[in-house]
Amino acid sequence: MPVIELRGIKRIYRMEGKQNESSVVVRALRGVDFAAGAGEFVSVMGPSGSGKSTLMNILGCLDKPSEGTYTLDGIETSKSDADTFAYIRNRKIGFVFQSFNLLARTTALENVELPLFYRSREKGEKRSAQSRKERAVIALREVGLEKRMDHFPSQLSGGQQQRVAIARATVNDPAFILADEPTGNLDTGMTLEIMGLFQELNRRGKTIIMVTHEPELAAYTKRIITLRDGELVSDKPLTQSRNALDDLARWKRNHALLAGEAQPAGLLCAAEKYAAEEGAL
Ligand SMILES: Nc1ncnc2c1ncn2[C@@H]1O[C@H](COP(=O)(O)OP(=O)(O)OP(=O)(O)O)[C@@H](O)[C@H]1O
Ligand SMILES: [Mg+2]
Repeated sequence: MPVIELRGIKRIYRMEGKQNESSVVVRALRGVDFAAGAGEFVSVMGPSGSGKSTLMNILGCLDKPSEGTYTLDGIETSKSDADTFAYIRNRKIGFVFQSFNLLARTTALENVELPLFYRSREKGEKRSAQSRKERAVIALREVGLEKRMDHFPSQLSGGQQQRVAIARATVNDPAFILADEPTGNLDTGMTLEIMGLFQELNRRGKTIIMVTHEPELAAYTKRIITLRDGELVSDKPLTQSRNALDDLARWKRNHALLAGEAQPAGLLCAAEKYAAEEGAL
């Protein structure tokens, strides 16, 4: 059974015109069919205005389609009431945004605990504060940031902040992770680090849907779908995805060589050690 199943999804925006003007209708999605199973890692690509954000909003249960059905983990979302819709969003989807969206006055650990805290207020949820904390620590350990759990976002690098956001997205064990240009605010090294982390999570079975403008990043995923003018015009599996941690090690080596910081041999070891540590998450 697919985790995600979209059938005939249409999204029409109607904008009321001013007096004497007719209303404008924008057909942002024109009948999209798409399904993804557990363990997939899919890139959503397409030019500006093709409907990527509209599709993400629907996949993320932030918006409902004008027509069509969206089944997530066996639940028909389009027919659900507002409460169920919010429940699905909080429990079934882990969001990762370009701008991290961490709470500034809250530590890394508390940021990751937040989804568990919201969940604790649901009926029948018995997890204690202690077990919530333990679960959040595990999620931070999985992104290699256990030692930084008492840091505030301002005390973390961009890449580390995004890793906290990824821990927050996974802490509830969602049906899938929805990432919207997750490396848009990061430099090359941090971008490769984050893509390496997504690949590792995916190897461990997490389903990931990622919007990206960049073919170089889509090359780290396992399947690319492309939208154009609100239609899904291509859907291709990638038989050989690039390995982000290999690319990270290579990038560090070249970078350090250019900067003349150290002997290549020593650096090679450091980069490989780093990659190995990351790989062993
Ligand atoms: N709230 C809205 N009201 C009216 N039209 C909208 C609205 N949101 C998006 N659109 C229109 O729907 C179409 C698809 O927009 P969307 O934001 O999904 O594109 P996108 O692929 O995410 O583009 P980008 O790469 O620039 O972010 C565009 O023509 C856009 O102008
Ligand atoms: Mg967009």
